[in-house]
Order: sequence, then structure tokens, then C-alpha cells
Amino acid sequence: MRTLITGAAGFIGSAVTPALTKEGYEIFVLDNLSFGNRDFIDVPDDHFFLGDIRDANKVEEVFERVEPEIVVHLAAIHFIPYCNQHPFEAADTNIRGTMNVLNASKKLNSLQRIFFASTAAVYPIYDEAVNEEHEQLPLDIYGLSKLTGEDLCRRFWLETKVDTIVCRFFNAFGPNETNPHLIPEIEKQLREGKRTINLGNLTPKRDFIHTYDMAAAVNKLLKLENPGFDIFNLGRGIEYSVVEIVEAFERQLGEKVTIEVDQARVRKVERQHLLADVSKLKRMTGWEPEWSIDQGIKNLVESWNQ
Ligand SMILES: NC(=O)c1ccc[n+]([C@@H]2O[C@H](COP(=O)([O-])OP(=O)(O)OC[C@H]3O[C@@H](n4cnc5c(N)ncnc54)[C@H](O)[C@@H]3O)[C@@H](O)[C@H]2O)c1
Repeated sequence: MRTLITGAAGFIGSAVTPALTKEGYEIFVLDNLSFGNRDFIDVPDDHFFLGDIRDANKVEEVFERVEPEIVVHLAAIHFIPYCNQHPFEAADTNIRGTMNVLNASKKLNSLQRIFFASTAAVYPIYDEAVNEEHEQLPLDIYGLSKLTGEDLCRRFWLETKVDTIVCRFFNAFGPNETNPHLIPEIEKQLREGKRTINLGNLTPKRDFIHTYDMAAAVNKLLKLENPGFDIFNLGRGIEYSVVEIVEAFERQLGEKVTIEVDQARVRKVERQHLLADVSKLKRMTGWEPEWSIDQGIKNLVESWNQ
């Protein structure tokens, strides 16, 4: 299957691309490398298109050249603090860019399925696991831009009847992180030799899912029979506090790590919980996550000296 992945050179793309290649998909990439890294993915140069999804002509040209049967739309501005500081850029990429991808997709005769990377940030603050039916009430421009992306996808499906999967990713972790999220921040300080590390809020819990498990789920969702338009949560279904993540590093290092709260890093508005109900994904695809937090962190720590 000729498969075009936007944003494939990013963090999650760097796990999805090899996983789909291994399954026999022929992968083409559209990425502007603003956050991604060409070296993260092993695709030939004639399958890699350097371009910006905000550029409608470029998107159309690439889509016409590739004639994909599957589009996996990952490209976005994603890091929430960056989105808050650059709201117009985030909206432009995540909304206009998605419109360009969908408009170019509409013109294809080849297209059989589109997959859109949405986010858990579409949900409001809630203290228990959320399923796909939960109300959507984003707290920030990032969540709002992705919720709009979901709506654009729904309209795309209504117009074209091309199978459209919206997948709400929870907190990814694994190799090749591009944004200074919690786990890379902990890694950075530990790799500098610190054993007293400075972090912000310690109590919030997040549903961390390994990118290899995410890639396996994307693969399953691309094979789901006759989905029409459907929405799936993608998380591990377990939540961990910041302290628990640091403890997982301690176990791998065999050393005590002390946390000091850095007031400058403390967010005033913070969700205490963000937990996925992934029963729909499991029931409909048979997917099961395989990477525990300890295995994933072991893998990261082992990569430090490579
Ligand atoms: N990382 C997470 O925890 C997480 C959680 C929820 C949702 N998501 C979503 O998953 C997708 C992938 O996220 P990620 O963590 O890999 O982020 P990332 O920033 O590592 O990857 C995004 C990729 O898109 C590319 N890109 C950005 N703007 C572009 C543009 N205008 N034109 C072309 N390419 C552009 C970047 O260069 C990068 O390679 C995004 O849609 C993100 O919103 C990620």
C-alpha cells in the first residue's frame, strides 16, 4: 500500500514509519523538518518530500506525485507550551495544514483510508478514565486546534466516504523525543550527572504509552475493516505520577534520585489526571500494549551510552 505519512520524521513518526515499512507498506514522507529529524527515518530520498503542510500547492503537488492509498497525518505543532506561546502558528499548522491535507486527499482517486493524529488534550479536566464518548472541552489552543482537525476529518468523511480514523494519542514516550516533555527533561538532567533534579508539578498523573505500542496500534487501525468514520483513544490505560516516573529511573540506575520543585516550572492550571479508557481500541482491533514503563525507561537508559 502506497502510504504517505505527514510528520513522519518526528518523534511518533520515527516509530510508526519503521513499523509500517516492516508490514510491507511503501512509505512516502511529507515533513518540513521544523521539529523532526531526517535521520530518524530510513526512507529513500525519492520517497522523502521536504515541504510545509501550510503550503496548499506543495501539499497538492506531493499528493498528486505519490497517489497514496493511505494517508497518515501526523504533522502538527504539538508541544503545548510552544503552542501557547505561538498560538497563530499552532492554529495555522494544525487547522489550515489539516485542511490542505484533506483538500489534497479529496482530489485523489487512489485514497482508501486517512488516519488523523488527534490528542487527549481534546478532553476537559476529569479525574477518571475517559472514553471516546466523553465530552470534549479543550483547555488550550493545541487541544482546540486538534478538535477542529477532528471535525474537519468528520466533514471529509461525510463528503467522500473514504474511511477516516481519528486517533486520540495520550502521552507518548520512547526514543527520539523532539520536545522537552517530562521524560526527556528527566533524562537530560540525569545525563548531566545530576542526582537532585528540578521539576515542576509532581502530583499530576499521565497515561504514558510507548511509541512502539502506538505504532502497533496505528498498524491495527489501518487494517480495521470498514471503519467508516471512527474515533479511538490510544493510551496505555495506566497513569503514573511524576514521582513514579522518577522512581522508574531510579530502578534502572540503581541510584537514589531526589526531586526539588522548581517554582518557575510549576504550572498554575494543571490537570491532576489524564487517563485513557482504551477498551474500544482493544475490543475492535485486538491490540494490546506490550511495553511497560520500566521496560521503556530501561530501553532509554541503555541508549544513553550508545
Ligand atoms: N507526543 C505526544 O505525546 C503526542 C500526544 C498526543 C498527540 N500527539 C500528536 O501526534 C503527532 C506526532 O507528534 P510527535 O510527538 O511525533 O511530534 P513531533 O513534533 O516530533 O512531530 C511532528 C512532525 O511534524 C513536522 N511538522 C511540523 N509542522 C509541519 C508543517 N507545517 N509542515 C510539515 N511538517 C511539519 C515536524 O517536523 C515533525 O517531524 C502530532 O500530530 C501530535 O499533535 C502527540
